[in-house]
Amino acid sequence: MFYSKSFGIAFVILSTLFFTSGLFAQEDVLKKRKDFMTARYDELKAIKRAVEEKDYATISLRAKDIMGAMDKAVNHFPKGSFSEKSRAKAEIWEKWDQFSKIPLKVKDVASALANAAGAKDEAGVQAQFKALGPESPFRSGACYECHKDFRSSPPPTKKAGG
Ligand code: HEC
Repeated sequence: MFYSKSFGIAFVILSTLFFTSGLFAQEDVLKKRKDFMTARYDELKAIKRAVEEKDYATISLRAKDIMGAMDKAVNHFPKGSFSEKSRAKAEIWEKWDQFSKIPLKVKDVASALANAAGAKDEAGVQAQFKALGPESPFRSGACYECHKDFRSSPPPTKKAGG
């Protein structure tokens, strides 16, 4: 009796630990992902200011930051990392081929922008910044190409009658 009871208690404790550590890991993924995306938006805003000021050095620097980040973007989407606290859509993992190619496109645009800035080519800078997303990453441009399909807006609500 003693053994089976303590085994039962140990089982409950262990499974609770396992379950909550899984939840913590999930929260951590979501937080890091949002921080990652927010940092990209900060770079985009810095580029916007620099484009207005024709500050080609800053445009080039920030565009390269975006390029480097795009190599790591998909790492922030481990399988099944969606929840009510996240706007990541389940389609990400159903259409992984499509999803995982978008960061490469963003990288191409950022690369073209960095090159145009490097060459002090004002028309090129304008064109590539337009392609990257001059309004917001939720309205137009390369970042939006991913958000429009894979980021839900407004936040997902539970399906009625599910
Ligand atoms: C491959 C797809 C993809 C690309 C490319 C991408 N994003 Fe995102 N982004 C997402 C998804 C999915 C979310 C929702 C994440 C969540 O809520 O868990 C998101 C969320 C965001 C958010 C909101 C973060 C928050 O606090 O909720 C910002 C800001 C953002 N992205 C900016 C950018 C910018 C700027 C770029 C381009 C430089 C970019 N993203 C490129 C998929 C992408």
